Amino acid sequence: MAFDFNVAEAFSLKGRIALVTGAASGMGEQFAHTLAGAGATVICASRRKDRIEKVAADIVAAGGQAVAIELDVGDSDSVKRVFEHAQREVGLVDVLVNCAGQLDFMPFTDIGDEAWNNLINVNFTGMMRMCREFARRLIEAGKPGSIVNITSTTGMQVMQYVSCYGSVKAATNQLTRQIAAELLDKNIRCNAIAPGYFMTEMSEGFLATDAGKAVADSLPTRRVGNVRELSGALLLLASEASSFINGVVLPVDAGQVIQLK
Ligand SMILES: NC(=O)c1ccc[n+]([C@@H]2O[C@H](COP(=O)([O-])OP(=O)(O)OC[C@H]3O[C@@H](n4cnc5c(N)ncnc54)[C@H](OP(=O)(O)O)[C@@H]3O)[C@@H](O)[C@H]2O)c1
Repeated sequence: MAFDFNVAEAFSLKGRIALVTGAASGMGEQFAHTLAGAGATVICASRRKDRIEKVAADIVAAGGQAVAIELDVGDSDSVKRVFEHAQREVGLVDVLVNCAGQLDFMPFTDIGDEAWNNLINVNFTGMMRMCREFARRLIEAGKPGSIVNITSTTGMQVMQYVSCYGSVKAATNQLTRQIAAELLDKNIRCNAIAPGYFMTEMSEGFLATDAGKAVADSLPTRRVGNVRELSGALLLLASEASSFINGVVLPVDAGQVIQLK
């Protein structure tokens, strides 16, 4: 038997072009740095131009390759434009990290139709739009690729006041498996990371409350995660190190979802 697994080569993203949605902050910003550190040229995408330009500039200053392109995943035309722009300026995108997301924390009985539909449009349909445009272009070019969707353990457990967010995140887990199954023969893999609680702009308000502190204290680690702790899972699923992994939803939560209640 030949023991020829080259660790550096398997995890390398040299020559790959990676698009990260939600790259303006939190996990997406971390992912942009991680992918660039592994050798990818990174397209940092989200709505806040100043923030994504800063992230791209930081990556370039650290010796990596990155550009910023504005994107609203809630708008089909914007999704098409970001891929067109990327292909024209950088090349064919062959790694997609869907990290854009919003949270609507409120009692179920208070939610209006507009807020409900907006969350579905951004967190669920937005992810589908990105995967669809990514896959169409790769299929047309006859090239392989990998998708990493950022879902949530909220889609695996029931939590208070996130009825829409939690339901949508459960749907993104299923969307990941559906897309993986349809793209099997195209050599495009689709996996997901389901983070537990991490300190970001999205969660910091809640985590500062007594209820939030109690949640952090109830976790197996007695602390929430640092976004750096998602990098290993991201690199695995984005790179050829996971060439035999497809349609998987990987919780990165220090064991939160298997905790006995
Ligand atoms: N923090 C946690 O504990 C946690 C746990 C599980 C899962 N998650 C998921 O992780 C992902 C990243 O969240 P985060 O915690 O890193 O929070 P965050 O810092 O608030 O990041 C969310 C990002 O999504 C972008 N975004 C929002 N709406 C968008 C749109 N319509 N089009 C394009 N980009 C959009 C935002 O940038 P712009 O405002 O510039 O568009 C922002 O950079 C989300 O999908 C979230 O649901 C978070």
